[in-house]
Amino acid sequence: MKPYIGTPTSRVDGRVKVTGMAQYAGEFEAPDLAYGSVVTSTIAKGRITRIDATQALAVEGVLDVLTHENRPKMGATDQAFTDEVAPAGSPFRPLYDDKVKFNGQPIALVIAEEWEIARFAATLVHVEYEAEGHNTDLHTRRDKAFVVEKPDKPRGDAAKAFAAAVVRHEAEYFIPVEYHNPMELFAATVVWKDGGKLTVFDKTQGVQNVQRYVCGVFGLKSDDVRVMSPFVGGAFGSGLRPQYEVVLAVQGALQLKRSVRLVLAREQMYGLGYRPATIERVAIGARADGSLDTITHEAIAMTSQYEEFSRNDTSWSALLYKSPNAKYEHKLSRLDVPTPSDMRAPGAASGVYALECAMDELAVALKLDPVELRMRCYSDRDQNTGAPFTSKQLKECYRKGAELFGWSKRNSEPRSMRDGTDLVGWGMATGVWEALQMPTGARIVLSGNGHAEVSCATSDIGTGTYTVMAQVAADMLGVPIDNVTVKLGDSTLPHSMVEGGSWTAASVSHAIAVTADEVRKELLGLAQKMPKSPLAGLQAEDVVLADGMIAARQDSSRAVSVAEAMQHGGVDRIVHERSAEFPEDTKHARNTHSAIFAEVKVDEQLGVIRVTRVVNAVAVGRIINTKTAASQVMGSVVWGIGMALHEEALYDHSFGRIMNANIAEYHVPVNADVQDIKVIFVDEPDNIVNPLGIKGVGEIGIVGAAAAIANAVYHATGKRVRDLPITIDKVLG
Ligand code: MOS
Repeated sequence: MKPYIGTPTSRVDGRVKVTGMAQYAGEFEAPDLAYGSVVTSTIAKGRITRIDATQALAVEGVLDVLTHENRPKMGATDQAFTDEVAPAGSPFRPLYDDKVKFNGQPIALVIAEEWEIARFAATLVHVEYEAEGHNTDLHTRRDKAFVVEKPDKPRGDAAKAFAAAVVRHEAEYFIPVEYHNPMELFAATVVWKDGGKLTVFDKTQGVQNVQRYVCGVFGLKSDDVRVMSPFVGGAFGSGLRPQYEVVLAVQGALQLKRSVRLVLAREQMYGLGYRPATIERVAIGARADGSLDTITHEAIAMTSQYEEFSRNDTSWSALLYKSPNAKYEHKLSRLDVPTPSDMRAPGAASGVYALECAMDELAVALKLDPVELRMRCYSDRDQNTGAPFTSKQLKECYRKGAELFGWSKRNSEPRSMRDGTDLVGWGMATGVWEALQMPTGARIVLSGNGHAEVSCATSDIGTGTYTVMAQVAADMLGVPIDNVTVKLGDSTLPHSMVEGGSWTAASVSHAIAVTADEVRKELLGLAQKMPKSPLAGLQAEDVVLADGMIAARQDSSRAVSVAEAMQHGGVDRIVHERSAEFPEDTKHARNTHSAIFAEVKVDEQLGVIRVTRVVNAVAVGRIINTKTAASQVMGSVVWGIGMALHEEALYDHSFGRIMNANIAEYHVPVNADVQDIKVIFVDEPDNIVNPLGIKGVGEIGIVGAAAAIANAVYHATGKRVRDLPITIDKVLG
């Protein structure tokens, strides 16, 4: 039997998804289900002076209208509302009091017998406010920004080195507010059982995080709340923290002692977290040969008035490139908005966009090929810590990516390449992300009939976790993948953090591996009790499970059938649960890398930009599933196209409100925007990062993608647009 790990395995949950059998949070049934609809604030800051629900309550079928005045009891401390990925500050408390902190804040929940009734009645809730002055515009508040953290230690004297540098580039780049826009709306179905036990189906990336949060907010006993999320229709970071739909749905259920479903409307999705708008300043000083003297990278990002959300935008710069002098700074400016959230490669997607555009501009100033510039300041060590990488095959990414793209045929002169009436541009960028891993548990139940069930509380947000778990379990237990059932997304299963940071594949795979070790040990013990056992005297490390047999690693003819060993021992099920821990390794840097090459064609008259070709060559350790991994990178590149050319939340700052809060006017790439995308996985053996050599794939694909496209637009047009998205008006303007 050939191993499943490393092969392009189709999603084990593919069939249930495409046939509509997979159930999402807003689809679970319960007897006597009531339906909620949210009323949101229409001012950005102030307080509610009066809420009149009389008209709404008069609609036939309306059961109740909850507001801060009559909602069930909730905790009164920040601690009660915190969660495992909450930033510093005071977490938002839905329907807590009369304060309005952002436009689109939930302020009432209408509950009715039917969803349509709830939604209609929600329009009849009359709200009066005392508004205060607000500000939602980062550009006007940049001077009020404060330093939250120094992402990495400075080295040398960056400013002095910059002043003395032979070739200099300094510029400011801007990334606007961007939203996750998952297809599945945030939703929760809270099933009320007699005695007040709740089963909560919630759209989330972390069922145990939500379970602890719900218990904390409402002071409920852990045994009384079970949170499930077997399928998630995209989240990209928006589901890392518990969102307000789960609080409101639980409030409704507690109030009515009845099951309640709440599905947010699409425009309400823009009242949740988002990628924060960020101003990035990069200053690089170089020598004529392209080696770097100094890098300064400063970011000013927005946050809310009540929490300090910040991610590492800046210290990728001189982690990646050799530079004796470096300085980083991350500042935050408070605005009257909901707290930003993680969104695919948070920090890096924004910061590396700026860095890689700046490197392109430096290459132009140096008259050096952009790939060559990156080779001249290539580093085999994390420049910030001096530590070597567990593995880093970035050179191979540059080489393989350039080769497949045909980079050597590039004429470096802007506006020099054409295709009919189109200007053709070729740009490239580097990507970098972390290879993270988190303590994670797994349970395996192996039955005598050769069926295995493997479970963990992690989610599968569409990344392929079900499939990866099935592949690893099948290989470790020596059973066909069709014999493996995977359970996840249930708070009662073995522990897992939220699924995020691209750490899940590595973490849960190791949890399964260490648990399978226990299964193998027990099976070996049973096999050795058989008369004349061919495995006598062997240790667990000396045997493998393969093709339904326990076999000596060195001599597969010494083998016993798993079924017979269990039968002989009178055992019909073998059950083990173990956790994988990952020892801290301060001696090494753990990162993933990529080289992205993009071709754009720009209509010279109309300014229309099309991304016609992308090659993304990534080095991410050992790939468990080359099919789902390639899908992740491809999806990330599509995001890169959106980030470069389309995506932006547009505020009317006089109201502090997003005016394109829908996916018709918030532009995302559609099929016509997505042409030829090729993904290459570069071989990257890694014996240090973890025993299986696995790094995460989910997020690296977007890092640098927008920069490669922006650099291609410059090469095509000779016009450098630094503030995203690069729209027609900016190209022609
Ligand atoms: Mo990811 S932004 O950690 O879901």
